Amino acid sequence: MRLLTHNGFFDSTNLNEAEEEEDGYVLTASSRLLLKSQIPNLSPFAILSVEPAMLAPWKVLGDWFSRNEESTAFETAHGAPFWEFCDTNSRFNNVFNEGMASDSQMMRFIVKDYGQVFEGLSTLVDVGGGTGMIAKLILEAFPSLKCTVLDLPHVVADKPAGGSSENLRFLGGDMFHSIPSADAIMLKHVMHDWSDEDCVKILKKCREAIIANKNDGVKKAGKVIIIDMVLGAEEDNERDITETKLMFDVLMMVLVTGRERTEKEYERLFIESGFTRHKITPIFGFTSLIEVFP
Ligand SMILES: C[S@@+](CC[C@H](N)C(=O)[O-])C[C@H]1O[C@@H](n2cnc3c(N)ncnc32)[C@H](O)[C@@H]1O
Repeated sequence: MRLLTHNGFFDSTNLNEAEEEEDGYVLTASSRLLLKSQIPNLSPFAILSVEPAMLAPWKVLGDWFSRNEESTAFETAHGAPFWEFCDTNSRFNNVFNEGMASDSQMMRFIVKDYGQVFEGLSTLVDVGGGTGMIAKLILEAFPSLKCTVLDLPHVVADKPAGGSSENLRFLGGDMFHSIPSADAIMLKHVMHDWSDEDCVKILKKCREAIIANKNDGVKKAGKVIIIDMVLGAEEDNERDITETKLMFDVLMMVLVTGRERTEKEYERLFIESGFTRHKITPIFGFTSLIEVFP
């Protein structure tokens, strides 16, 4: 408790003024995020981070590096790449999807404070949208928007075809193969899962999907909305945020074939995929919102 208090996870307080020695502990803004009764509740995300299957690759980093056979330490530890492992291990798949969904509850603040990003859109595809938490939060604020959540078949298999709202639809598929047309395509925490080469493939598919899009027979200028970390976007004095982003940079190398990127590195991907301009808005914590235009 002393360590967690020192780290700001709890605060200590004197419970009884008459008894100087009687210290107690109270919650802080950080620990309140883990309360099940609270929205957002990040405990499934915290549980995911200590899940044995997520920790095992760290123990084989040396083997992975010296063998130079598998593309990730995750594959060295489990014998399968991350997304394949999710497909064949339903318990881990649920823990992972619930963890991501709990993190996505934070989207409610993005929708509240940066809602203008979604204004004027009639259709949106959330690519790699998981269990649809983000789509649901956007629909609460923009109920007439038609939202499609595209994810791998094992992620959306048990989702009702029509979703919980008639404007929400789940689609099992592969973003490298095809993305449905829409005014906007959203990618939250998807880019950082992939190598530069794969990101260009995904972005090209997104570009095709917004360029092919028409509303009532009229072409609309669409966009891609990326929610991810951007290295170097924070103030120089935000040491903790930089450290968190760099931890994620290493985590992406350990689990998948991805990485975090600077604005310059993102820009190169956008240009190579045929986009002409982009706008980055740092939002809160380590997250940025990037709008990319064809
Ligand atoms: C890091 S999770 C992000 C989930 C969600 N966007 C969020 O932020 O909560 C990445 C998502 O990409 C999905 N994914 C991986 N490969 C995919 C593919 N080839 N096509 C579509 N989705 C894919 C995964 O199943 C997973 O749901």
